[in-house]
Amino acid sequence: MGAYTLLRVERGGLEPGIPGQFFMLSPPGRLLPRPMSVCLAPPGELAFLLEVVGPGTRALAALDSGAELAVFGPLGNGFRLDVGRPLLVGGGVGIAPFPYASEALGGPRAVLGFRSAAHAEAAALVPQAEVVLEPTYVTECLPGGEWDVLACGPEPMLERVRALAPTAQLAWEAPMACGYGGCYGCVVEVEGRLKRLCVDGPVLEAAA
Ligand SMILES: Cc1cc2nc3c(=O)[nH]c(=O)nc-3n(C[C@H](O)[C@H](O)[C@H](O)COP(=O)(O)OP(=O)(O)OC[C@H]3O[C@@H](n4cnc5c(N)ncnc54)[C@H](O)[C@@H]3O)c2cc1C
Ligand code: FES
Repeated sequence: MGAYTLLRVERGGLEPGIPGQFFMLSPPGRLLPRPMSVCLAPPGELAFLLEVVGPGTRALAALDSGAELAVFGPLGNGFRLDVGRPLLVGGGVGIAPFPYASEALGGPRAVLGFRSAAHAEAAALVPQAEVVLEPTYVTECLPGGEWDVLACGPEPMLERVRALAPTAQLAWEAPMACGYGGCYGCVVEVEGRLKRLCVDGPVLEAAA
């Protein structure tokens, strides 16, 4: 998928969960599992959009067809889908939950930002997405009016969305070792309170 890898997994008896939830994927070798958002959930399958940034994603992206993979989930809190005028706002591999979210919401408006045309090829997974390429930032191209924003992307993008749309739902990232609340590796401070992002998030209300 352009600069990213779309990893398709047979899901056996696993439920796909709701958009914004994630699975822990155990790369082969002695690596800890890595959290990945559900990107698509066609019957019998789960698909994940990966950006290779280190050993875990490199090993996952290099899996041969038919290889076995340990997958655990769905985990965390996904996006609330009871919204009237949804607008998907994504940056980079942060668009990963939006193909599934777009399907669940009936193809809402989506504005997705990428750092190159090769990365932007992934926008084809989100119907009718408007693509913004750097040096323009996606937050400079949001439509006017009142929207129920669902956002996922790098932290500076989420902070900008929070400032522009105080009712937005934001999907955050933190390094995660367990994914179910046991290790406290994913603790983040939100408005002066500590939260385990894997169980309290990854989706948080902007006003939280
Ligand atoms: C809920 C959730 C959903 C995610 N969904 C996806 C997804 O759909 N697709 C995808 O490609 N990635 C996703 N990620 C991020 C992915 O899990 C991490 O980038 C992963 O740790 C990469 O593993 P690695 O071994 O390849 O790289 P690592 O060696 O773990 O890290 C490589 C570099 O990335 C930085 N880094 C690692 N993890 C994070 C993090 N979580 N936040 C910020 N910086 C980090 C490290 O500091 C280092 O510079 C998600 C993360 C979370 C928390
Ligand atoms: S990843 Fe272990 S507590 Fe959140």
